[in-house]
Amino acid sequence: MNKEAMTGKLIVFEGIDGAGKTTQIRLLEGYLKEKGRPVVCTAEPTDLPSGKALRRALSGEEQKTPCELAALFTLDRIAHNIQPEVGITALLKNGNDVICDRYFYSTLAYQGAETDAEWVRSMNLNCPEIRHPDLCIFLDLLPEESMKRINRRTETREIYETSERLERVRAQFHAVLQTFDPQSVRIVDAARPIDEVQAEIRKIVDSLLQS
Ligand code: TYD
Repeated sequence: MNKEAMTGKLIVFEGIDGAGKTTQIRLLEGYLKEKGRPVVCTAEPTDLPSGKALRRALSGEEQKTPCELAALFTLDRIAHNIQPEVGITALLKNGNDVICDRYFYSTLAYQGAETDAEWVRSMNLNCPEIRHPDLCIFLDLLPEESMKRINRRTETREIYETSERLERVRAQFHAVLQTFDPQSVRIVDAARPIDEVQAEIRKIVDSLLQS
């Protein structure tokens, strides 16, 4: 097999909280493994030093401006791509498919709304060290349903505020996603039972693997 044929695919999952990313990623990982494809699951923010710095900022432990946050997420993404052993580029080159929980669509949706959207977009999409995914699957869910699911797993007090925030984030995601090629960015209705959602994801992934 030549090198090109051995290169894996980069598949990204996005969605608001409660949309089921973790569950659907695990199921897709199992499916690809059953097909005999080596798969590595990864996530952003990463566990690399840049990701740890981000988590400190997100927890409020270190105050950051919206521009600093946008730059930090982008820096973490560059590190995630180029890290020599566990980086996305290395994993793909070694023939692994990579499934990533969140990617630049998140930065465009969250940070793009907080600072200059064009700057955030360009910094990510025009960066030679940030690979463009082969596929992005956005698990779409109405905030009311998402809140129900979150409440089932945790105690959330500021429900009203959180629901409003989810509504805003979802709208931002939709605005961002429609600027991409609809072949590579697929919106999947995540309100259905887990196996139905997974069946649709598998169909989309199968057609990517055949292309
Ligand atoms: P994550 O650990 O994926 O949390 P969740 O389990 O809620 O998906 O991400 C942490 C937070 O970081 C989440 O609220 C989304 C946010 N985030 C951004 O604002 N921009 C980004 O580029 C990324 C990757 C995440």
